[in-house]
Amino acid sequence: MIKAISDVNTVKDLIREHPGPLAIVPTMGALHEGHLALLRKARQLVGPTGTVVISIFVNPIQFDRVSDLTNYPQPLKEDLKLCEAEGVDIAFTPEKEALYHPDHSVLLTESLLTRHLCGSSRPGHFDGVLTIVLKLFNVIQPDFAIFGNKDFQQLALIRRMVRDLNVPVEIVGHATVREEGGLALSSRNSRLTREQRQDAPRIRRALMAARDLAVTGEQDPSVYLNAARTHLLGNAPEDFSIDYLQFVDAETLQPITRVTKPAVLATACFYGEVRLIDHIGIRS
Ligand code: PAJ
Repeated sequence: MIKAISDVNTVKDLIREHPGPLAIVPTMGALHEGHLALLRKARQLVGPTGTVVISIFVNPIQFDRVSDLTNYPQPLKEDLKLCEAEGVDIAFTPEKEALYHPDHSVLLTESLLTRHLCGSSRPGHFDGVLTIVLKLFNVIQPDFAIFGNKDFQQLALIRRMVRDLNVPVEIVGHATVREEGGLALSSRNSRLTREQRQDAPRIRRALMAARDLAVTGEQDPSVYLNAARTHLLGNAPEDFSIDYLQFVDAETLQPITRVTKPAVLATACFYGEVRLIDHIGIRS
């Protein structure tokens, strides 16, 4: 079985023994096919003799709700089996204490791309994400880092951080992996009841219904938003609610008033306490 390394110095020593190039796939575990697709991309990038590192760390400082953190699934043994099957070379599984000093006081903050979407609905979340990702880059010093486009605001922020802070790593994005019905794979899906899970493809269907309007040349964002909202809420179960449904410019992530450039319709929805996100690109 692949050995999980939790100590920072041990993982640094081990990496020094491994030949380059090196790719990292940062995760919070509870691995599914979406994560595995990133690991395969990592292997493809570094080749058979390069090194693939996965980090599995449920980063406490990026959680804005205590219940989400305490209920986050952590099936480490199963995760390690999957990593082994994917030919991962090193699994870095630090404890909180190994990464965060008890009185740590430096946080990374981004001030533009975080203004909307998850940035406004989960205050502090992206400070936590950027801080941990930069820390992982500093410890592992990868040539490549692979992230899913499912979390497209996160990916945009990481690219921005790397650009603005001259971090020497190449960021590689990967398309969202979905279930047959269209539901984006997520570690949080395992927390849905059977009924909620059956219902959850409504999120993707709503976004696609809105996107279908683009063929008419529609440029008014509110028309897209209304279509998506109608599909999201039509016959929805009682415990379903919309956290946000927003239309933003694909590059700046700022709200748009006309659909004239590539744009993104993004949503976060709750089934009870379980929060799911998805988005779709729209071009008029
Ligand atoms: P986590 O949610 O575990 O996701 C780890 C990586 O897998 C992220 O890059 C995410 O975008 C990608 N991913 C998740 N579901 C996916 C899917 N269905 N298809 C493709 N990729 C998918 O995102 C995080 O962890 C954390 O914020 C992290 C970056 C590790 C920092 O703590």
